[in-house]
Amino acid sequence: MSIKAILVGAGVRGATVYAPYALKYPDELTFVAVAEPDDERRTSFAKKHHIPVERQYKDWKEALTESRDADAVMICTHDRMHYEQTMNALELDYHVLLEKPISPFPMECLAMERKATEKGRLLTICHVLRYTPFWSTINRLIRRGDIGNIVSIQLTEHIGFAHMAHSYVRGHWNRSEESSPLILSKSCHDLDLIAWLMGQDCKRISSFGSLTHFRPEHAPAGAPKRCSDGCPHLESCCYADFRYYLGEGRRHAAHFTEDLSDEGILRALPHTPYGRCVYACDNDVVDHQIVNMEFKNGATAAFHLSAFTHDSTRRVHIMGTHGEIQGSLADQTFNVFDFASGSQNRVQVQDGGKEGTESMLREFCRQVKQHHTAPALTSIEASIQSHMLAFAAEESRVQQGTVIDLPAFIEHRKHQLYVEATR
Ligand SMILES: NC(=O)c1ccc[n+]([C@@H]2O[C@H](COP(=O)([O-])OP(=O)(O)OC[C@H]3O[C@@H](n4cnc5c(N)ncnc54)[C@H](O)[C@@H]3O)[C@@H](O)[C@H]2O)c1
Repeated sequence: MSIKAILVGAGVRGATVYAPYALKYPDELTFVAVAEPDDERRTSFAKKHHIPVERQYKDWKEALTESRDADAVMICTHDRMHYEQTMNALELDYHVLLEKPISPFPMECLAMERKATEKGRLLTICHVLRYTPFWSTINRLIRRGDIGNIVSIQLTEHIGFAHMAHSYVRGHWNRSEESSPLILSKSCHDLDLIAWLMGQDCKRISSFGSLTHFRPEHAPAGAPKRCSDGCPHLESCCYADFRYYLGEGRRHAAHFTEDLSDEGILRALPHTPYGRCVYACDNDVVDHQIVNMEFKNGATAAFHLSAFTHDSTRRVHIMGTHGEIQGSLADQTFNVFDFASGSQNRVQVQDGGKEGTESMLREFCRQVKQHHTAPALTSIEASIQSHMLAFAAEESRVQQGTVIDLPAFIEHRKHQLYVEATR
């Protein structure tokens, strides 16, 4: 029998990335209600999923209190809404699938973990990369001992110049005070992968990085505040708004228009934040950052993110005592080198782009059906380490690269949470 779910936030992630699973596998997942303040998004979602008018809500609180026949809530709203919506959903005994990041505040993450445990409900985080063929195969080989014990990991995230401009210069995640720092909003996935592959708790962490390029002083002479206001550099500027949305970034235009035709996009762009010159935005998040980590057994990891790459992908190098793995997510391939035999095995995985999402949703539905009998791969308990790494990395970066003792950092916040709860 299908599990019944409420969707909170019928935006890009909720409506277009996750919800199609319910249409493809109706015997596993059915949406019985939707909460979305945007009329167009709400009605379009309701129509696709046959949700009657009385189960279409603008207000998520109403949706949660009036839809008690649902088993689960999928929360796909912006980062700063996650805490209140998740705490309410857990309080009302729903299982929750929550978009990453859990919350931009460490204390809220810890409080959510505690609430899920108290209520005995699933709180699964959409760290979807763990479920993809690329990362799950690498993890399986490591756990099988194919390269011995891991001594170091190097992971590089290529954000991509155009994707950077879309999400972190013009878009929703461009201000850390309004969403979260880039190391959390974008790279909690990467820190999650490092912690997962390492299989160890982190001991110490430090970080450097800054916003170097997307600043007013780098605007070319005569550039207006919007690309469409007669910018003389349109032909030569790699960040000109239309380039991305009429090209490889077309699906991201769903952030500002339902009409994804050339005409629809060009009509909408001049009136949205996505039509701004990248040198005239209100952005403050970094465009490059490095994080160094030392784990309990002495192993180390280095994570590097940069906006200044032509592609949006990741490269990984995992160095073990008896072999190494070098992989490129873009190519969906990795090489496994075995030191003893001198052999090199090239592994090509098959990923049409939906495998990770579908496998995550399948596991979530199965766990809800089986009443939460085994820990989820991306449970809040499993996911929280990545967030603590991100919070500590950001604290280090802001404090000019100070080394942070991670267990002490976490303990301090748990203590604060305890003090607040007993006040
Ligand atoms: N797992 C991943 O790889 C991944 C990738 C991108 C984004 N995200 C995360 O997904 C989340 C959503 O991002 P998105 O790209 O879908 O954004 P989006 O803006 O397209 O969607 C958010 C939706 O929430 C709706 N909303 C706003 N207030 C609401 C309220 N009070 N109640 C219900 N709905 C409300 C908005 O109208 C919007 O439709 C963010 O937290 C983001 O960080 C995760």
